[in-house]
Amino acid sequence: MKNIIRALLVFGSLVLVVVCVTSRGSTKPAKAQAAPAVSLAAGEYVGSEACKDCHEDQFKAYSHTSHAELAGNSTWKGKATGCEGCHGPGKAHSEEGDPKKIVSFKNKSAKETSETCLSCHAGREEHNNFRRGEHWRNDVGCTECHSPHGVATGKNLASSNTLVSPANAQKPGFATIAMLKTSDPQLCLGCHSEVKHQFSQPFHHKVLEGAMRCSDCHNPHGGFELKQARLATGSDAACIKCHADKQGPFTYEHAPVKTEGCASCHTPHGSSNPRLLRYAAVNQLCLTCHSVAHDVGAIEPGGPQHNQNAQYANCTACHVKIHGSRNSPVFFR
Ligand code: HEC
Ligand code: HEC
Ligand code: HEC
Ligand code: HEC
Ligand code: HEC
Ligand code: HEC
Ligand code: HEC
Ligand code: HEC
Ligand code: HEC
Ligand code: HEC
Repeated sequence: MKNIIRALLVFGSLVLVVVCVTSRGSTKPAKAQAAPAVSLAAGEYVGSEACKDCHEDQFKAYSHTSHAELAGNSTWKGKATGCEGCHGPGKAHSEEGDPKKIVSFKNKSAKETSETCLSCHAGREEHNNFRRGEHWRNDVGCTECHSPHGVATGKNLASSNTLVSPANAQKPGFATIAMLKTSDPQLCLGCHSEVKHQFSQPFHHKVLEGAMRCSDCHNPHGGFELKQARLATGSDAACIKCHADKQGPFTYEHAPVKTEGCASCHTPHGSSNPRLLRYAAVNQLCLTCHSVAHDVGAIEPGGPQHNQNAQYANCTACHVKIHGSRNSPVFFR
């Protein structure tokens, strides 16, 4: 029986892939774009209400989630939603409560469980690349971060995910946004404790203070960019979202801002150097690329030929508009 269910699910996923691919060109809004594979086959489905009496905890938690809303949504009419959207047809199991007659995730790998979620969620841009990300590769599945049934307390209106003080982030029921098990950044730091100290450096982005989240800069769902940063190719979308003035357009661009990105000069998490710079002194930073002993015809950019003493000076005292300028080819104003 288990094998049959599995076969059905595998077949289902295949159908879904086709559904997702063909629906990508549609102009419908991305919300709820994917339909589950199985249309309700001959009386095998009973609906979530049938599970309520025997699994009260799961039912209660689940009833607050957007998954619970699908059953009443006309686009999902005649499709498997609710408990059975993940656990498969439940009629046989409901009759006697035989745990062998329902899809269980107990012995499933993180990837297998995630595939169940992706059968509906793969089509959205945010999740398209989950299988290309470090989390997928390292067996961090959807349910490491999301609780599949939601949080028992339901939505907590006070739970703004953008202003999380360490104190209120610990409160139970706080992390009810997107069914997260705990709120970002606590969620991420639970596994990435190695980066935590960077946010306590003298100069840092205020993540631990709750002013921003890890996922402002990273896509936890993967992506093509190095370190799963939220960067669109060729521009620093993540940084530009908040530092729009650094984007330009400039008449005179400082090449590395566009080609190598913000992180070529700044440490994004935190730094002991002002302005989150990679070097304690600005001239050190500049001279990593603009070598004083610059050979004519070399591939690296020219050095400061104006005055050899300049190499000891604070370059940005004169080259003020270091991210690009509308007026000066050497970024004076
Ligand atoms: C008549 C009571 C009853 C109903 C109705 C019922 N279940 Fe169960 N279910 C059980 C019992 C009993 C177990 C075994 C409990 C255990 O092993 O702790 C169980 C176990 C499960 C498990 C865990 C299987 C495992 O071993 O990992 C899942 C998942 C599950 N049920 C889902 C559902 C869903 C979905 C529905 C509704 C479609 C449902 N159940 C309806 C009684 C019921
Ligand atoms: C979004 C997918 C999804 C939905 C919807 C869902 N479940 Fe689950 N369920 C899971 C996963 C995944 C697990 C494995 C537990 C885990 O990874 O935390 C699970 C585990 C269970 C278990 C085993 C005990 C436990 O909590 O670990 C039961 C019982 C269960 N679900 C019942 C239900 C019932 C009843 C509903 C509907 C009210 C439901 N589930 C809706 C995905 C889902
Ligand atoms: C039957 C299809 C289906 C399955 C299977 C499914 N989802 Fe969903 N899920 C949806 C739809 C539809 C929505 C609502 C629209 C949206 O946000 O995409 C949704 C919403 C969500 C949300 C947003 C909730 C919120 O309140 O913002 C999360 C998180 C989520 N699902 C996680 C999961 C995880 C994790 C799994 C696997 C354990 C899973 N889903 C399995 C269809 C599904
Ligand atoms: C490493 C942790 C992590 C993993 C793994 C993860 N998520 Fe998320 N997810 C988040 C965080 C954090 C948010 C909320 C932040 C945001 O909105 O970007 C979120 C938001 C969502 C949302 C609601 C916002 C949206 O994009 O529609 C859905 C749906 C969702 N996740 C589904 C999934 C599915 C499906 C998987 C597995 C394929 C998954 N997530 C894996 C952390 C994770
Ligand atoms: C369950 C543990 C776990 C959670 C929770 C988690 N991660 Fe990860 N993450 C990993 C593992 C394991 C890797 C791959 C190994 C590594 O590079 O550390 C990884 C990789 C990454 C990478 C890529 C690192 C690289 O070197 O390429 C980033 C970025 C990242 N995670 C960000 C996040 C963010 C943001 C969150 C919270 C939304 C989060 N992670 C939550 C376990 C986790
Ligand atoms: C201001 C944007 C920003 C924020 C906020 C941010 N990151 Fe990063 N993170 C980056 C960038 C950009 C990189 C790539 C660094 C590089 O190329 O040197 C990175 C790299 C990483 C890496 C790879 C390991 C490493 O040190 O290179 C991990 C893991 C990581 N971040 C996790 C997190 C976690 C966890 C949080 C939240 C506590 C977080 N990040 C918050 C932008 C950010
Ligand atoms: C969610 C908004 C947000 C994002 C995304 C963001 N920043 Fe910031 N950044 C801020 C805020 C707010 C401050 C100043 C307040 C503070 O001290 O945290 C800041 C401060 C800085 C500073 C120091 C400014 C100073 O005067 O000392 C630098 C440099 C910086 N960010 C670079 C980056 C880079 C590079 C990225 C992308 C990897 C990035 N930021 C992404 C909001 C953001
Ligand atoms: C070529 C090196 C370099 C690159 C690339 C670079 N910066 Fe900077 N940035 C600097 C220097 C140097 C300073 C300090 C200027 C000073 O001395 O006042 C600075 C200062 C800043 C500041 C604080 C002062 C201000 O002007 O607001 C922010 C914010 C900032 N950078 C954001 C960014 C962002 C966002 C990017 C990517 C789009 C970026 N930087 C790319 C070198 C760079
Ligand atoms: C990551 C490498 C890198 C860093 C760091 C860097 N630059 Fe540049 N810079 C370049 C490149 C590449 C060009 C373009 C050279 C060209 O087009 O010939 C350039 C161009 C310039 C120019 C325009 C004049 C010219 O030769 O085109 C000035 C002035 C300049 N940089 C000053 C600075 C200063 C001051 C700093 C330190 C705050 C700095 N640069 C840091 C790579 C860098
Ligand atoms: C006292 C002001 C001042 C300081 C400090 C300064 N520069 Fe300049 N820089 C100039 C002027 C003026 C020019 C334009 C020279 C010309 O083209 O006539 C220039 C031009 C340049 C150019 C274009 C190539 C050239 O030499 O014409 C580069 C590259 C450059 N500076 C890098 C640097 C770096 C790197 C530092 C720090 C180590 C630095 N500058 C410090 C004033 C300064």
